[in-house]
Amino acid sequence: EKGGWSSFMAKEISEEPEAVANTILGRVVDGQVVLPELAGLDDVLQDIDRIIVIACGTASYSGLVGKYAIEKWARVPVEVELSHEFRYREPVLTPRTLVVSISQSGETMDTLMAVKYAIANGARTLSICNTQGATIARESDAVVYTHAGPEVAVASTKAFVAQITALYLFGLHLSRVRGTLDDAVAAKQLSELQSIPAKIEQVLTNAPEITQLAKWMSDTRAVLFLGRHVGYPIALEGALKLKELAYIHAEGFAAGELKHGPIALIEPGQPVFVVVPSPRDPNSLHAKVVSNIQEIRARGARILAIAEEGDVAVLPFADEVIRIPLAAPLFEPLLTVIPLQLFAMELATAKGLDVDQPRNLAKSVTVE
Ligand code: F6R
Repeated sequence: EKGGWSSFMAKEISEEPEAVANTILGRVVDGQVVLPELAGLDDVLQDIDRIIVIACGTASYSGLVGKYAIEKWARVPVEVELSHEFRYREPVLTPRTLVVSISQSGETMDTLMAVKYAIANGARTLSICNTQGATIARESDAVVYTHAGPEVAVASTKAFVAQITALYLFGLHLSRVRGTLDDAVAAKQLSELQSIPAKIEQVLTNAPEITQLAKWMSDTRAVLFLGRHVGYPIALEGALKLKELAYIHAEGFAAGELKHGPIALIEPGQPVFVVVPSPRDPNSLHAKVVSNIQEIRARGARILAIAEEGDVAVLPFADEVIRIPLAAPLFEPLLTVIPLQLFAMELATAKGLDVDQPRNLAKSVTVE
């Protein structure tokens, strides 16, 4: 039941701190990740030379976030592919390929068929799944469950943050098995992850501000989303949420791609959400994104920045700044996605739409 919330979606967003905490629960012991479900897989994980992540929609964006962490920590090449494209292109699979499927429901037909294809073609399989005993979980060599609890609203929210959490745990496990990460560094990542639920609580206190923004923007016709590095999949996810819930044309771009085409879309008044990397980011992407903001602002874009507390560089150029608490750069997606989920929900609500049951969509897509 909705337990006092206006929708399942609102309730499930409020449960995100718990979803992340429950996905971590019991899996960190003495600063090390412990995934007993992967115990028999050490040889496979040592031997793989490539990971292909397959998923659809929101789940695929969690995979894109996971790619950055897994490659950085475990030094294994990771590709992310939509399940429905994967098996129709004769992908190169070997026993040294690990196919990681991600699915909240564990029943998505496109993803299930892709897993079966991977098995039939000799790859090893792991699934990241939220529903206990789901078909995809049963088909795979191993499963790491996200413990987000049942997700009822059609639009995925808490399952998404739980998927990223599970991918990070898997990435750290893989690094340990392959000896690619210093124990102390891994322990530091785990403690960062453990600090996320409280930070999500903090982000959720911005909700009234976002409701106000959504109300002002309820007749908006198109919204763009920009991000870079792990903020890029978040831009894609912000756009997907807005399309599916508020029926507004929305597109997400990698900020670096702007000058290769999308900047032509900018006209006076065009709202653009920008997921701003931390100024502490070791890749110094912050300055590059701030300069992207300046470029589109000069062409009249209305800038809605999602930026960490204390980042003053964005202030002169942003029309609105939504703050997130400080987190290690790789973990920021677990925070920056929340305002975008809230925004899509509130904009749909402001338009009088049913946020739990968007038109034309089903919670679990069991047909191809
Ligand atoms: C979007 C959404 C969908 C699902 C996709 C995969 O909010 O919910 O894009 O993420 O249909 O579903 P699962 O994870 O059940 O395989």
